[in-house]
Amino acid sequence: MGVRFKGWGIGLPDRIVTNDELSLTLDTSDEWISERTGIRQRYVGGTARSLGVIAGRNAMADAGVEPEDIDFCLLATTSPDRMAPATAVLIANDLGLTCPAMDVNAACSGFMYAVRVAQGLLETGNKRILVIGAEHLSKWVDWTDRNIAVLLADGGGAAILEYDPDVNDVLSFVLGADGSGADLLTCEHEGTFTMDGREVFRRAVRVVVDSSQRALELAGITADDLALIIPHQANIRIIQAVADRLGIGMDRAVIALDRYGNTSSASIPLAFDVARTEGRIKTGDYALLTGFGAGMTWASSVVKWS
Ligand code: UT7
Repeated sequence: MGVRFKGWGIGLPDRIVTNDELSLTLDTSDEWISERTGIRQRYVGGTARSLGVIAGRNAMADAGVEPEDIDFCLLATTSPDRMAPATAVLIANDLGLTCPAMDVNAACSGFMYAVRVAQGLLETGNKRILVIGAEHLSKWVDWTDRNIAVLLADGGGAAILEYDPDVNDVLSFVLGADGSGADLLTCEHEGTFTMDGREVFRRAVRVVVDSSQRALELAGITADDLALIIPHQANIRIIQAVADRLGIGMDRAVIALDRYGNTSSASIPLAFDVARTEGRIKTGDYALLTGFGAGMTWASSVVKWS
């Protein structure tokens, strides 16, 4: 099956909030946040729609495609602007798209779930899919709760996936969901996020390692063959634990949480952008994209950049 990543783009709010700024109103410190999470600052503002539009427009420009070239618009988000309609429909309209559009909510695994859905849509005759991950998590944060406020942030990232019979960028996929963990990280209607951080940490390492190992096996490669791991950006200590267990040096891990915090569905495309900006995306290289999040959900995929 020929699936090719054709273009990427990101969208960020204007406002940067540093750890020091959070320390003015919360019982926390730059030292604690940096050491325990790796986060130094985050972007706050916009909406899932506005950030998704910027990311989507940038991805379309990067791919050199026009609105009529897009057959489907998928938005991965945990923080849609409205209950109805789907925020993907609002974004599609702003981008001049008239194709089908829908939201996918798999929390922080959302972007990878949406890529998986896009792969299926390409197999059933669609030519080009716009996949966006965009979040306005700050709206659902209790800014007096230091357990959450130092972690979550806003942002958007997007990619165009195209059918191309001559190449295949997506070599394997392992997804899963375990609803027994639903209350570990949750947000009720009109509520705010709450989290059992330690238990989420413990389970995250386990599911990311297991699903990554299976994704490598399905792709027929080993961790030694990977040029990069592009993980969900929740906590640098989770990334270190995963890399360690998989036998991947941290020099091959892409880190974006230092500047962006945890942007849930947007975190993997934002991390891809960091890797590309740093000149680390090379034709023919294998990369492991792996996410986990509320649910719990997880998704790991081995890609080979064409
Ligand atoms: O996107 C996917 C979902 N989210 C995640 O993946 C998050 C996974 N979990 C984590 O990243 C970490 O568990 C946290 C960053 C949330 C917490 O780090 P931790 O090392 O697990 O800290 P802890 O919960 O074990 O707390 C250690 C101490 C506690 O104080 P005591 O009881 O030892 O006196 C906390 O009250 O740190 C305290 N603490 C803080 N101190 C300063 C907790 N949050 C903060 C804070 N600033 N923001």
